[in-house]
Amino acid sequence: MSLATILCLTSAVQGLSGTIDIDATKPGAKVPSSLYGIFLEEINNAGEGGLYAEMVQNRGFEDANVPPACLVENGQLVPPRTPHYWENKPNQWTMAWPYTSPFPSWRLETKGGAKASIRLDDSHPLSQESKNALRMDVSALPKGARASLVNEGFWGMNVQKGERYNLSFYVRSNSQYNGPIEATLTGRDGKALATHTFANLGKAGWQKVNASLLATGTDAKATLSLSLGAKGNVAFDFVSLFPAKTFKNRPNGLRPDLGKMIEDLKPAFIRYPGGCYVEGVTIETRPHWEETLGPLEKRTPTFSPWGYWNSNGFGYHEWLQFCEDVHADGLYVFSAGISCAFRSGTYLPDDQLPGLIQNTMDAIEYAVGPTTSKWGKLRAQNGHPKPFPLKYVEIGNEDQGPKYGERVAKFYKVIKAKYPKIKIILSSWIAGIDHAAINAAGQIDIVDEHAYKGAGWALNHFDSFASYPRDVSWELYIGEFAANGGVGRGNMLATLNDAAYMMNMEKNADIVKMGSYAPLLENTNRREWDVNLIHFDSSRSYGRASYYACKLFADNRPDVNLTTKVEVADGGPAPIKGALGVGTFASEVEFKDISLTQNGQTVSLDNAPGWKPKSGRWSRADGVYRQSSRDANEIWSFLAGDFGDKTINLKARKVAGDEGFLVSLGEIDGLRIQVNFGGWGNSIHAIQINSAEAVASTRGKIETGRWYDVRVETENRTVRAYLDGKLVVQMTVPKAKPVIAISGVDNKTGDVIVKVVNSSPVAADMTLNLKGVRVGTTGTATVLTSDNVTDENTYAQPTKIVPVTTPLRLSAPQLTHRFAPNSLTILRIQTRSQARNLSGGAK
Ligand code: AHR
Repeated sequence: MSLATILCLTSAVQGLSGTIDIDATKPGAKVPSSLYGIFLEEINNAGEGGLYAEMVQNRGFEDANVPPACLVENGQLVPPRTPHYWENKPNQWTMAWPYTSPFPSWRLETKGGAKASIRLDDSHPLSQESKNALRMDVSALPKGARASLVNEGFWGMNVQKGERYNLSFYVRSNSQYNGPIEATLTGRDGKALATHTFANLGKAGWQKVNASLLATGTDAKATLSLSLGAKGNVAFDFVSLFPAKTFKNRPNGLRPDLGKMIEDLKPAFIRYPGGCYVEGVTIETRPHWEETLGPLEKRTPTFSPWGYWNSNGFGYHEWLQFCEDVHADGLYVFSAGISCAFRSGTYLPDDQLPGLIQNTMDAIEYAVGPTTSKWGKLRAQNGHPKPFPLKYVEIGNEDQGPKYGERVAKFYKVIKAKYPKIKIILSSWIAGIDHAAINAAGQIDIVDEHAYKGAGWALNHFDSFASYPRDVSWELYIGEFAANGGVGRGNMLATLNDAAYMMNMEKNADIVKMGSYAPLLENTNRREWDVNLIHFDSSRSYGRASYYACKLFADNRPDVNLTTKVEVADGGPAPIKGALGVGTFASEVEFKDISLTQNGQTVSLDNAPGWKPKSGRWSRADGVYRQSSRDANEIWSFLAGDFGDKTINLKARKVAGDEGFLVSLGEIDGLRIQVNFGGWGNSIHAIQINSAEAVASTRGKIETGRWYDVRVETENRTVRAYLDGKLVVQMTVPKAKPVIAISGVDNKTGDVIVKVVNSSPVAADMTLNLKGVRVGTTGTATVLTSDNVTDENTYAQPTKIVPVTTPLRLSAPQLTHRFAPNSLTILRIQTRSQARNLSGGAK
C-alpha cells in the first residue's frame, strides 16, 4: 500500500447520541453557598502592579533591599543556612536575585546639556519602614535643559484622556533647593499628557505635596517624571500616582476593571494572601499582617517568593474591605512557622509558636473583635468600626505530615477557645489528603487539597471525589485547582477539564464544600505561572474561557443535586490517529529507517514528502535525519496524516545532550499521545498525554552514540513502546466519557439546572428524561465553546470564547438537545414548582 493510499483512509465524522436521566425524586447532596470562591495570591504581580491601582513601581525606593536574613551573592539570593523543616539540615536552595539597579523602575533623564545624578539616600529616613529616599543633584541646567527622575510604572502607566490622576510625594530640600519641581505624565511619543508645577518647596524636613493631574491625551505606557527647574539637590520619597477612579471609589483602592471581573465571579470567599507567599522564601520573609496596616509609608514591604517586592499598599485591611465590597467571606492564610519547602524550608522553632499563635489571634481580633479590644479599636481608627466578614483561617500552605499536624492542633485549641465560629483549615500538601497531618491535628474543620492537573485528567476522573472517605469530621476545600499542563496558556481544553473538575466538586458537595481556581491573576509582563485565569497589562484585561466557566458555575449553583445518569453511544473503539512525529528535548539525535506498518502493509516514511520541522535544526544526509539543537524544549518534526492503528519502526541514536528522543503517535479525544524515551533527565521511558505528566513510565535511560531499534505500536487506545525488541512501557489511554452531566435544583426559581460537558470534537444529540418534575414552557441554554480545543482568548481576541445564552422552548418531560462539540452547556429548565424546596439527601 502506498503512503498516498494510507493518507486517504479517513473516516466520516459522526455525531454522538444518548440520554441524560434526571431523577428529581432522588435528591442528592445540598450544594452549599460556599462552594465557589477565589484564591488571590501575590504572584504574577497580581496585587502589586495589578489589582492594587498604584501606578508607580517602587514608590518608596525600597525595592533593591535584600530580604531580611538573606544575602545576595553572585546574582543569587542566598537564605540563611539554618535547617530545613523536613530535612533537618540546611539545603542549598538559592534563587536568581531579580534586581540589578539600586533604584529599580526609576531612571535619570537629562536633556539639553543638563548635568545631574541620582543616588539612594538613607541619611534622613522618612520612616523606619521607608528608610531610603532618592536624592537628585542637578549641577548644571542651561536654559531649555531638563533633568528628570522618571518612573516607568508597572511596564507603563495607563493614562487616559479626560481622566484624573492623584499624584503625591514627599520632598526634602533642606533649603538647598528653592526652585520648582514639574511633574509630567509623558506618552511614548515624548508628548506631555498632563503636567503640574510645585513651587515653594523650601521648607525644612520632609514635606508632602499632592496634585490632581488631568490627562489631555492617552497612552497605555506613559511614564511619570519629576523635573527640577533649577540647580540644587532634593530628596524624594513615597512618590505615588493613583487613578482618581478606583473600584467602588475607594482611596488607595483597586483597578476598577479587575475589581469588577472578580466581583462578577460572585466569590463566596476570598482566600488570601497565598500560597507560597504565606510561607516566604525564608521564615523571616513571611508576610506580617500587622505591618500592612495604617499609613502607607509606615508599612513594611514583603518580598514575594515569586521574585518581587510587595509594598503592602493592598494590605490586611484593604483585603478585608475588598471581601466586604464583593460580599465574600474572608479566608486568611497564616504562616504555620514553616517557610516554603521548595525554597529554604527554614522555620520557627516550636518554642516560638505561642508568639505566632498570639499574632494570629490578634489578626482575628483586628477583623472581628469589638472596638473595645486592642486590635478592634485599631480597625475602627482605620475607618471600619463594624467587624469584617472574616470566616475562615488556614494554618500554613502545602505543609505536610504529623509535625505540621501537631502545630495545627496548637493553633486550633487557642483559636477555637475564643472564636468558636471561625472555621479552621489544615492545608493538605499537594494532591490528595494528608491523613498523617489530619490525625496529628486531631480536630480540624476543613482540609485544603491542591489539585494542579494535566490535560485530560479531570475529564478522565470525573466523580473522583466519590471515592473520598465520608466517615470523617472535616469538610473538604479544594483551595487551588486548575488544568494547567498541556493546555497552552489556558485553552478550551483546559476549560473543559476545569468545568469537569467543578462538576466533580459540585456532584460531591456532601464533602466538597469549597473550591477556588488558581492562580487568579496574571500581569502578562511577569508571568511566573503558566496558566492563570485573568490576564491583564497596564490598560487591558480579559478572562480566559475558564474564567467564564467559573462564573457560570457560580451563577448557576443549584441548592440541591439531583441524581443524574448519562448514557452515550459513542460509536465504539476509536484509534489514536493523526500526524506522526519524531522529536527531542535537550538532546541532539539522529533518526533513520523510519517505517509505518498498517493492516499488514509496510511503507517507508524515511523521505516521505511532508515531514515538517516545527522547531530546532533539522538536516538530512546519507539517509539520516538529524536534529542538532539542544534546546530544553520539545523539538518536533511532524509528518501530516491521519494514521490510525499502526506500528512505527525506526532507528534512533542520541548524539549529545541531557535526554533521549520522542515519538509522537497522533491524537485521541483531542489529546496528543507521545512516547518519551529517556525523559526527565534521562531517567525514565514514559508515555505522555499532551506533553504533560508521564502517564505511564518505567525507569530507563538512553546511551549516547548507540543506535536503538525503536518500535511503537498503537491499537485502539493502547500504546506499546519497545527498545531493541524489548517492551519498555505500555498503557491504554483512559477513556473519558465524551459527555458528562450533573443537575440540581435552584430552590428560589424552581429551575432544574443541568451542566453538561461534551469534550468530544463532534456534537452530541441527547435526550433528557426528567423524572419527578413537570417541565414548564421556557428555559435557557448557555454555551461556552470553540471550534478547536486549542483556541484561547487573547488580547487580540479577548472574547473569542465567551458564553452565549439562547432561550429554549420546552414542552415535554422528555427533551432533546444538541450539545456542541468541545462545549460546556448550562441548561436552565423552568419547572412547574415540583422541584422547588428540595431539602437534599445528604449533609
Ligand atoms: O498557585 C500558585 C502556587 O501553587 C501557590 O503559591 C502554591 O500554594 C501552589 O503550589
